[in-house]
Amino acid sequence: MNYIDWLKHKDLEYRQGILYFADLNTIEIAEKFGTPIYIINEQMIRKRYRELKDKLNSVYKKNRIFFAVKSNTNLAILKILSSEGSFFDCSSTGEIYICLKSNIPADRIIYTGNMFTDDDFEFAVKNEILVNLDSLSQLKRLAKIYEKIGKEKIFISFRFNPEFGAGHHPHTITAGKEIKFGILEHQMIKAYSEARELGFKKFGIHQHIGSGIIDATDYEKPTDTFIAIIGKIAKILGIHFEFVDFGGGLGIPYHPKTNPIDLNKYGEIVLKKLKVVVEEGDIGDPFLFIEPGRYISAESSIILTQINTIKDNGFKLFAGIDAGFNTLIRPTLYGAYHHIIVCDESNKEKVSKYDIVGPICESGDVLGKKRELPELSEGDYLAILDAGAYGFTMSSPYNSRPRPAEILINDGKTFKIREAETFDDLLRNQLVPDYLK
Ligand code: LLP
Repeated sequence: MNYIDWLKHKDLEYRQGILYFADLNTIEIAEKFGTPIYIINEQMIRKRYRELKDKLNSVYKKNRIFFAVKSNTNLAILKILSSEGSFFDCSSTGEIYICLKSNIPADRIIYTGNMFTDDDFEFAVKNEILVNLDSLSQLKRLAKIYEKIGKEKIFISFRFNPEFGAGHHPHTITAGKEIKFGILEHQMIKAYSEARELGFKKFGIHQHIGSGIIDATDYEKPTDTFIAIIGKIAKILGIHFEFVDFGGGLGIPYHPKTNPIDLNKYGEIVLKKLKVVVEEGDIGDPFLFIEPGRYISAESSIILTQINTIKDNGFKLFAGIDAGFNTLIRPTLYGAYHHIIVCDESNKEKVSKYDIVGPICESGDVLGKKRELPELSEGDYLAILDAGAYGFTMSSPYNSRPRPAEILINDGKTFKIREAETFDDLLRNQLVPDYLK
């Protein structure tokens, strides 16, 4: 894909040197709302959701997409996806709470947590949320909570760890013997037989091998292992599955030299295998679930930021901006690449290499290293791309810098969907004991 098409894929283009996002002039947005700021493109969320849905429908009709809420919890985003018919994958009771507050019905939520407490289980059972267990030891505790609350035990699901994962960084690979997630193969039969003995009647199965997978073939081996264990459980225990959940993990092209993940290949390598085992095996007539976060939300957002300082220290050129790892932590935490571009490229003749750095008092506050950009000046605006997944949700008020606002773009109009935090928010929950007053 050439660079202009790569930008277009994200609904970005230069018109007379000015960067437009979702048909709007980014400099005008920055000047109207201030920086740093998250800008979200509603149509991109819908587009990515529909692309996936169409792919699923073409391979396996009985399917559901559960948006991984951890990637973006903004209520407007959840409403947009609700209106598309999405389901929702939550990793905590807080995420479930946000979904319920967004009027998402309980039967559209799956709770794929880990290291569950009894309070987590109580919250889930009281709200009738389907739980996807992460350890054999949790089963009896969950059953007890159903009994205590007096609700019937119907659905249960376990997360399988296929011992072979993938991801853009070691921290985002979620399968393997050394990894905390899921249940290894040798405990899977026990998990389902105990669940049945405890009175659960309907069964699902889940795996999530990691996050940020751009080569669909990375799914091949774990999917084969997954399909094999599903067949084995069905055969040994005579269990029929109500759903098979392949998790999320689909990556996006953060770098201009990266192509989007090949959805056809994903369909062949992952989704079609369920069809085969359903037709040829005896595992029931399950729904196919997937839980994508990044694929749906990442490319929907950019961060607009303003340069406040150009520093040439004699060795290196730094462009100091008003967004830091408090605003977007992925580059610092994972060495993740986020493409950074100028909002006005009319002054293109001279190009230099800059380290793009934030205002946080740590040397690791680098958003982009050695980026070749047109000559920059103090006051210029930059756009940091692909910030819609694990961007705002992982931001913090570190260095007592209030979190930024979020603006939604739809149909050429802007809507504020989150106020910027204020200094008062920094103090909101702090208490001073009387003796220190
Ligand atoms: N399902 C489960 C059980 C998960 O743990 C995750 C992500 C997903 C679905 C969604 O994965 P996605 O489709 O978004 O790749 N903070 C990291 C990513 C951590 C992902 C954790 N689990 C990052 O910024 O790259």
